[in-house]
Amino acid sequence: MLDSKSGPVIITSALPYANGEIHLGHISSTYLPADIFRRYLKLNQIEVYYLCASDDFGTPVLIETEKKKIKPEDYVKYWHDKDIEDFNSAGIFFDSFSQTSSQTNRKFVQYVFNILRKKDLIYQKVVVQYYCEKDLKFLPDRYVVGKCPYCGAMGQYSDLCEKCGRIPEKILDPKCAICGLPPIRKESNHYFFKLSNFEDVLEGWLNENKFLQHDVKKYVLNWIVEGLQDWDITRDIHWGVNIPVEGNEQKDKVFYGWFDNHLCYISSFIEHLGDINKAREKWNNSKIYHFIGKDIVYHHYLFLPAIRIGIDKEYKLPDFIPTRGHLMLQNNKISKSRNWYIGLREFVELFHPDYLRFYIASICNYSQDDTNFDWNDFEKKINNELIANIGNFVNRTLTFIKKNFDNVIPNPKEYDELDKKALTEMKIIGKTVGDFISSNEIDKALKGILSFSSVFNQYFQRKQPWKDPEQSGSTLYVSINAVRSLSILLAPFVPFSADQIWKQLSLEGNIHEQDWDSIGTILLNPGHKLGNIEPIFKKVDNDKIKEQVNKLNNR
Ligand code: MF3
Ligand code: ZN
Repeated sequence: MLDSKSGPVIITSALPYANGEIHLGHISSTYLPADIFRRYLKLNQIEVYYLCASDDFGTPVLIETEKKKIKPEDYVKYWHDKDIEDFNSAGIFFDSFSQTSSQTNRKFVQYVFNILRKKDLIYQKVVVQYYCEKDLKFLPDRYVVGKCPYCGAMGQYSDLCEKCGRIPEKILDPKCAICGLPPIRKESNHYFFKLSNFEDVLEGWLNENKFLQHDVKKYVLNWIVEGLQDWDITRDIHWGVNIPVEGNEQKDKVFYGWFDNHLCYISSFIEHLGDINKAREKWNNSKIYHFIGKDIVYHHYLFLPAIRIGIDKEYKLPDFIPTRGHLMLQNNKISKSRNWYIGLREFVELFHPDYLRFYIASICNYSQDDTNFDWNDFEKKINNELIANIGNFVNRTLTFIKKNFDNVIPNPKEYDELDKKALTEMKIIGKTVGDFISSNEIDKALKGILSFSSVFNQYFQRKQPWKDPEQSGSTLYVSINAVRSLSILLAPFVPFSADQIWKQLSLEGNIHEQDWDSIGTILLNPGHKLGNIEPIFKKVDNDKIKEQVNKLNNR
C-alpha cells in the first residue's frame, strides 16, 4: 500500500472539453474519485499533485465560436474559469488546472512531435477529406453532419453518432455543418503516427502491468489482436497546436486534439513546477494515476502509452488508469443534446455539495459498469444513511455531553466489555477504510464508515447512558473519541461537514491536515471543552425531490 516512503503521487483526471458545463456525469466518472483519493493521500502525509486542465482544442469549440463570432481564446478561457469555480464549489481542488492551449503545452507538444519524427514514427500521407466549396475549408470531424450508416439517425456528426454511439466510417448524405451544402471530397496531406509499430510493445506493457483493471485490459488486448491502425494526427483547421515544420507549408494545419490533450498532463506539471528538469525527475519518481471514464480507454491504454514509449519514456507511463463506467440519470443515458443531465452548478444550488459527494461515492463502483443517479435513491441515502446513521451518532454524542456534562468531556470509569469492543473497532477502522480508498473502491470505503457508525449507534443504544448520566463517563468518553475518528474518516468524502464536526469538537488545526493513523488513537481527553453544538445535516425534503423529478420529466 501507499505510504509517505513510497514517494510522490501524481493524479490526473480526464481533461474536460472547454465547451460546456461540468455535470454530474463528469463528477462521478473521474473527478470525485480522484479528489477523494487525493484527500486521503494528503491525510497520509504523501506528497501529491492533482493535475487537470481544460481541453481547449477541437472542432466543437471552433464551430461554436464561429457561430457566436467570438475568439476561440476567449471562449475557452470562459469555460476554463467557470470549470474551476464549479469544481471548487463541490470541494474538488486541483494543484494545477491549466489549459491545453497554454504556451507550455504548445511547446511541449511540438517538442514531442519532433522527437517522434526524428525516430521515424511519423509519416505523411495524402488523405481525401470533405471540403466545402462555399466556406472554402476542409471539414473535419464535427464540421460534417449526415445520416448514421449504422442506425439511420439523421443530423449526426461524421466522427460520432450520438444516437447509437458508433463512429461512422462514412456518413451518409453529408452536409457542411456551417452552410448546409453538400461538401466535395478533396485531397489533403496529413501526418500519421505509426501506432501499428507498437502492437507488441503495448501488449507487453499491458500484460506486465498488474495494476490495470483486468476487464479493461482484456478488451484492449483484443483490439491489439485485431490490429492497430496508424493515427491521423493533423487537422485542416486553424485552432490547435501548430505543426513545427520548416517554411510555411503546413500553416493551414494543426494537431488533432487527441494528439495534444493528454500531453497536457505532463506539460501542466512542468508549468506547475516551473522547471522542466525538476518536473521530469519528479514525474519519473512518482506513482502516476490517470483517472478516466470508459469512453476514452482507447486513447489512454494505447495512444498515450505508445507516444510515451515513442519518446523513449522520457516521462514514465502510468502505473494506474482507474477507469469507470458512465453515470446514468434516472436510468437513462445522460445526454447534453437531449438536455438529460444535471449541471454541477445547478445541483449545488439545490443541495449541499457534501450530499452530492456522499451519494455519488456510495454508488460509484470501481468498474466499467454504469451506475445510476436516481433522485429518490439520493433522498433515501442522504436521509437514512448520512443523516439517520452518521449524523445521528455524532449529534447524540455531542448533545449528550452538552446537556449532561456542561459541554465538557467526562472522565471514563473502568471499561466494560462493550467499551473494550468499541475501542477495538476504533483501532482497526482506519486501515479497513484506507485500504479500500487506496485500491479505488470508494463505495466500499464509505460502506465501511457507515458500518463503523452503526456499530457505535448500537453501542450507545446498549449502554443507555441516559439511564444514569452520572455513571455514563466511559460511554461518552469512548463515543466522543469515535466522533473524532469518524470526522477524519469522513474528511475525504464530505470535507465541508467533516470540517464542521471538527469545529464542534473544538479541535485545533485543519482537519484536512490531520494524520489518518490518528483515527485509531484516543486523543480527546477528559476536561476538553466542546464548541458550539448544532445538527450538522439537514434532512432532504421530499417535496424538493418531487420537484426535481418533475422538472426532468418535463424536459
Ligand atoms: N476532453 C476529453 C473528453 O472529454 C478527455 C481528454 S483527456 C486527455 O473525452 F488526457 F486526453 F486529455
Ligand atoms: Zn459550407
